Amino acid sequence: MKDLAQPNGDHHAVDMLHAPGTRFRYDRLAILMHWAIFLLVVVAYAAVNLRGPKGSESRDFWMGIHVWAGLLVLGLSLLRLGWRLTHGPPPVDSSSIVMTWLAKAAHIALYAFIILQPIFGVLTFNVEGNPVPLLGTGMSFSIVGANASLAPLVEDLHEAVGEIFYYVIGLHAAAALWHHYVLRDDTMRRMI
Ligand code: HEM
Ligand code: HEM
Repeated sequence: MKDLAQPNGDHHAVDMLHAPGTRFRYDRLAILMHWAIFLLVVVAYAAVNLRGPKGSESRDFWMGIHVWAGLLVLGLSLLRLGWRLTHGPPPVDSSSIVMTWLAKAAHIALYAFIILQPIFGVLTFNVEGNPVPLLGTGMSFSIVGANASLAPLVEDLHEAVGEIFYYVIGLHAAAALWHHYVLRDDTMRRMI
């Protein structure tokens, strides 16, 4: 009988959430980056929801926090992508093909989100003709010029992606918690 504690030997083809009996974990740097990015994404969402009415002081402050949290997400995510491309996930035991595929798709979508969403945010400011303000520094920056015809599109894109990822993040977290509390396997321990 196959020993469930053994990896199946292919480190790259087995990026999935279902890992019964595995004793393998992401390394400390990957775990630190995963949870730091998670916290910063929570701060970005919280800040934008607390922002208050247009023109208020509260709005400037919370948008400033939103920008900083989002830019830090981008910076850390690029480092994390670099880590991922050079390391790969720790080995896991095989699970159903559908679950493996779903977990893999979610992971790719989450990587795309943490890199692209902050960039869409920067573009949202810039296409409307506003440089991105860096709260607390008195500095601001632009990467593209104003573009009135693209402005509504870019803003809608940043908003829509923000809305969709409440659900993607929620499903990803629910899957992890399901493994931990219902299936009682070691999937969650891979990332803590
Ligand atoms: C992980 C990173 C980020 C997430 C999850 C995120 C998410 C969101 C969400 C959910 C909204 C609210 C949309 C709405 O309901 O109106 C929003 C608005 C916005 N975000 Fe982000 N964002 C991120 C990063 C950034 C960055 C880095 C910037 C700029 C540098 C930025 C600039 C904006 C702007 C300008 C708005 C429109 C605010 C307004 O309506 O006044 N975002 N973002
Ligand atoms: C903003 C929120 C989050 C983002 C962007 C995110 C992103 C990711 C990504 C991209 C991976 C794949 C890692 C890789 O193979 O390199 C991953 C793995 C993982 N995440 Fe998250 N995550 C988030 C929140 C959470 C939460 C809230 C939980 C737990 C409740 C969680 C638990 C896990 C676990 C257990 C793994 C390892 C899965 C495996 O063994 O392959 N994540 N996450």
